[in-house]
Amino acid sequence: MQDTIVILTGAGISAESGIATFRASDGLWENHRIEDVATPEGFAANPDLVHDFYNARRAKAQDAQPNAAHIALARLQSEFAGDVYIVTQNVDDLHERGGAKVVHMHGALNSALCAACQTRWDAPNVMHKTDTCPNCGTAATRPDIVWFGEMPYFMDEIADRLVGCTTFVAIGTSGQVYPAAGFVQEARNCGAETIEINLEPTGSQYMFDRQITGKATQTVPAWVDEVLGA
Ligand code: APR
Repeated sequence: MQDTIVILTGAGISAESGIATFRASDGLWENHRIEDVATPEGFAANPDLVHDFYNARRAKAQDAQPNAAHIALARLQSEFAGDVYIVTQNVDDLHERGGAKVVHMHGALNSALCAACQTRWDAPNVMHKTDTCPNCGTAATRPDIVWFGEMPYFMDEIADRLVGCTTFVAIGTSGQVYPAAGFVQEARNCGAETIEINLEPTGSQYMFDRQITGKATQTVPAWVDEVLGA
């Protein structure tokens, strides 16, 4: 049976591309409370604020460039003899622009979603609460982002991949947000080797067989070289 590597990425992989991570020491995300900008209740209370917030995140992501870590994972995906499945919690498209195929379990900034009929379409650069759905015409347009309290995407597919994987790698994620934080346990239960690649050890480090500590742009290409035997 061929080896299968499942890779979970988080905000840390995009940090060196200039995109802020979530858990700053002051508990705010780009000067906003998470409850105000990343929950369905926050959106219902103030849709203008939430659209403005994600419009700014979208502009920032468009200006950013994939870094050496994104590019190394794309190389692994194309050159590894087995299967490499990448699931990201990130809503930027730096993995894709680096050449990788990924699933976005927390949604994507470049996608818009109709809350009325669930149609998706390419998000314009600037979204407004008055935007209407191209399918049903309702002004119930929202960013296609999975907020706290909502079910992440691709959960069945991810569970299937975790069951069969031989190696599970978490890169640049603090391991504080479930269900993603539980993937390492699922992989371990199936006998996979587990590796954490992060700037610093996280609270979940004891779950991993191996730690690689340092900046993603250095550690990830080095680990990919190791796997590919370069
Ligand atoms: N290289 C490697 N790791 C880094 C780097 C770097 N250059 N910079 C930061 N990190 C690490 C941090 O040490 C931290 O452990 O990346 C991690 C980022 O953690 P979070 O900010 O908590 O991001 P993440 O784990 O992706 O958050 C998960 O929470 O708010 C929600 O939905 C949002 O997808 C997000 C989820």
